[in-house]
Amino acid sequence: MDFKIFSERIGKVNNRIDEILVGKPETLYGAARHLSSAGGKRIRPLLCLLSCESVGGNPDNAIDTAVSMELIHTFTLIHDDIMDNDELRRGIPSVHVKFGESTAILAGDLLFSKAFELCGERAVKILARASSEICEGQEMDMSFEKINSLSENEYLEMIIKKTAKLFEASTWSGAVVGNGSNEEIENLANFGLNMGIAFQIQDDILDLTAEEKKLGKPVGSDVIEGKKTLIAIKAINNTDGTDRDKLIEILMKKNNTIEEIEFVLNLFRDSGALEQSRKTADEFIAKAKNSLKNLVESDAKKHLLDITDFVIDRNK
Ligand code: IPE
Ligand code: IPE
Ligand code: MG
Ligand code: MG
Ligand code: MG
Repeated sequence: MDFKIFSERIGKVNNRIDEILVGKPETLYGAARHLSSAGGKRIRPLLCLLSCESVGGNPDNAIDTAVSMELIHTFTLIHDDIMDNDELRRGIPSVHVKFGESTAILAGDLLFSKAFELCGERAVKILARASSEICEGQEMDMSFEKINSLSENEYLEMIIKKTAKLFEASTWSGAVVGNGSNEEIENLANFGLNMGIAFQIQDDILDLTAEEKKLGKPVGSDVIEGKKTLIAIKAINNTDGTDRDKLIEILMKKNNTIEEIEFVLNLFRDSGALEQSRKTADEFIAKAKNSLKNLVESDAKKHLLDITDFVIDRNK
């Protein structure tokens, strides 16, 4: 799908971000602007605006709420790259690499605060709840690095919190600002949640299969960090004997050799774990689409459904 059809909407979001991220000290604001000026898909603000439109609301009333979703997202990216030891983001050095860890932490905090200044009264609880859940999910994600037996349900709970809840907040708040009915608001919130789950599964797949140049962030980072992605959990479950022992050993240690990473990648593919994870993502995409079945037909609804397909077809 071509995001060019959204260029007017994304342009309004970007203009507002540019207005907000001006201030002193310049190093702090420069660090806060660093990633926004390097691109990014802007999928969360887009979902917010389209959700508003899909219930008959005026999307111009939702710009600030939409921008607040992107600011929270950017805050999480900055802190996430510190936690995940990732030095590349959106094709450029991560904020902590360019500005140092202390300024990166503050830039994240600044974006977090600006988001709440901006989101509007009706979105504030939605965004606050999602933000707490992101912290919980990120802590779970890190603690899982040290565990080698994890259930798919535990993984699901973790990605719902770290990723899907902000998608849910984006569609939910868009529907609220657009004055949707209670049923529309609930359906759009569910839509965002299920799409967000599929989005993170696809993100985990891309970490293994994408081209670094297109992705703009390091490929293979999850294996090096020992992340318990759905693919890793399924591969551990699908394998036995020495292969299983070796897989767990590599996932549990840092400083992997190229041979070790290749061993893991091959096992992820040959054990069927990669394909099965794709199917799981498909199932959540189907659930997301189903949540919109009662929503009145409109261009905005069509765009939302197109974005749903994009989530699992994308290569960046
Ligand atoms: C990456 O999000 C972080 C996840 C929650 C998986 P995006 O893939 O939306 O990142 P950008 O904004 O396009 O860079
Ligand atoms: C994203 O998970 C979670 C966030 C809340 C940022 P990842 O750690 O997989 O995201 P990327 O792959 O670094 O973008
Ligand atoms: Mg992470
Ligand atoms: Mg990361
Ligand atoms: Mg990832």
